[in-house]
Amino acid sequence: MDTRFPFVDWFRNSSPYINAHRGRTFVILIEGEAMASGRGEQLIQDLALLHTLGVRLVVVFGIRPQVQQALDEASIVPTRHRGRWVADEAIMARVERIAAEQRLWLEARLSPGLPNTPLHGIEMTVVSGNLVMAKPLGVRDGVDFDRSGEVRRVRDQAVEGLLERGALVVLPPLGFSSTGEVFDLDAAEVAHHAATALSADKLILLGDACGLVDASGQLQRQLTPAEAAPLLTQADPASELARHLGAACVAARHGVARTHLLSWHDHDALLGELFTRDGVGTMITEHRYEQLRPAELGDIGGLVELLEPLESRGMLVPRSRERLEYEIDDYLVIDRDGMIIGCAALHTFGEADMGELACVAVHDDYRGGARGERLLAEIERRARRLKLSSLFALTTHTTHWFFEHGFRLADIEALPTLRRDTYNHARKSKILIKTLG
Ligand SMILES: CC(C)(COP(=O)(O)OP(=O)(O)OC[C@H]1O[C@@H](n2cnc3c(N)ncnc32)[C@H](O)[C@@H]1OP(=O)(O)O)[C@@H](O)C(=O)NCCC(=O)NCCS
Repeated sequence: MDTRFPFVDWFRNSSPYINAHRGRTFVILIEGEAMASGRGEQLIQDLALLHTLGVRLVVVFGIRPQVQQALDEASIVPTRHRGRWVADEAIMARVERIAAEQRLWLEARLSPGLPNTPLHGIEMTVVSGNLVMAKPLGVRDGVDFDRSGEVRRVRDQAVEGLLERGALVVLPPLGFSSTGEVFDLDAAEVAHHAATALSADKLILLGDACGLVDASGQLQRQLTPAEAAPLLTQADPASELARHLGAACVAARHGVARTHLLSWHDHDALLGELFTRDGVGTMITEHRYEQLRPAELGDIGGLVELLEPLESRGMLVPRSRERLEYEIDDYLVIDRDGMIIGCAALHTFGEADMGELACVAVHDDYRGGARGERLLAEIERRARRLKLSSLFALTTHTTHWFFEHGFRLADIEALPTLRRDTYNHARKSKILIKTLG
């Protein structure tokens, strides 16, 4: 269909993602290289847009290239070991100054409300502070790391409180110790600790590379920590790959559902990953990307999004939110990265040993991938557990799909009495029955 404004179509297609991300917590790491290369301005606009769409944001920033430049200018060559430098007094003075400057820059850039920017008309509160506790790396292999430290804990309740009040939280790669000292931290480590402590929905690591590629140069869209492990052992510990992949695997193993590896070089990466069907980078996840599971009340919004177009085309009987809420325990959903792309319900009728398979639907974009079949198989398992002997379905458009899945035509007398009474004669739905073996 020709549209006058392609943007309008794009906007319509992105609405399910907008709903899926609202109220979610994302921890986003922006490496120092992105700021040094001038990409900061654009990223700030994207962060502001996510904030206005109701995403709870924690932004961690890196400062390594800026500190390296300051060290080069002062002809200081740091001692390096195991991918970290030894932060002595001279290095620490620069780390503290640059972290403060970067934080101020971010706060300043998130403050204006110029027209034609996502910040127009809103006042964003950006907060930073003593939110990360650190401890010294200590002496390793005979090397005293001085003020180079590691994360002891992220003060999750303090950060939660700030997010609850609508603030965007900024975490520099610095931590504070119980002795009142400041420690230099690895930004990727701060990011994964923050994501884990907050049980974030997503950890997004913006680095130099646009995700991971396999031996043939193909982008790998999704990996589990176990699949990523060989890459991690081969990588140089000081490399971004090792730091980011390490952070992603730890986060995945500690319950962060999804970590995305994206490139800051790509202007569209952040929004492209979040608001398009298949994304643009690599996702590390312990769980399957797609999950068939019982529906919960929190899925109602997603169910309405999925069903409305089918209802308006007359393929499904319209169901109100209230009805969906009331019957939610009957539903199964297919959840793809937080978006509901399929559903089916099993309704039972008192003493009758027949169940109704209702509201089988798969999102247009995902048809033909046996999702309908998986939903049916799971409903059949449910029905057998409930000791039902057969399933019936009423359909106007999908008779043949049911035939192909073992259903046969029947007439109204075959229905349980309760369902016979509510049968809509004007709709003239076909009645299909499958005996469960
Ligand atoms: C029916 C539906 C759930 C199937 O989802 P799906 O994930 O594509 O299902 P599967 O991949 O398991 O099956 C796809 C096959 O079914 C076929 N199919 C889908 N709808 C069909 C229909 N109305 N009539 C005949 N065949 C149909 C497809 O052509 C495909 O066949 P192929 O593999 O030979 O190409 C989906 O098409 C849908 O949401 N339809 C609209 C809602 C609806 O009518 N629901 C039933 C009323 S309760």
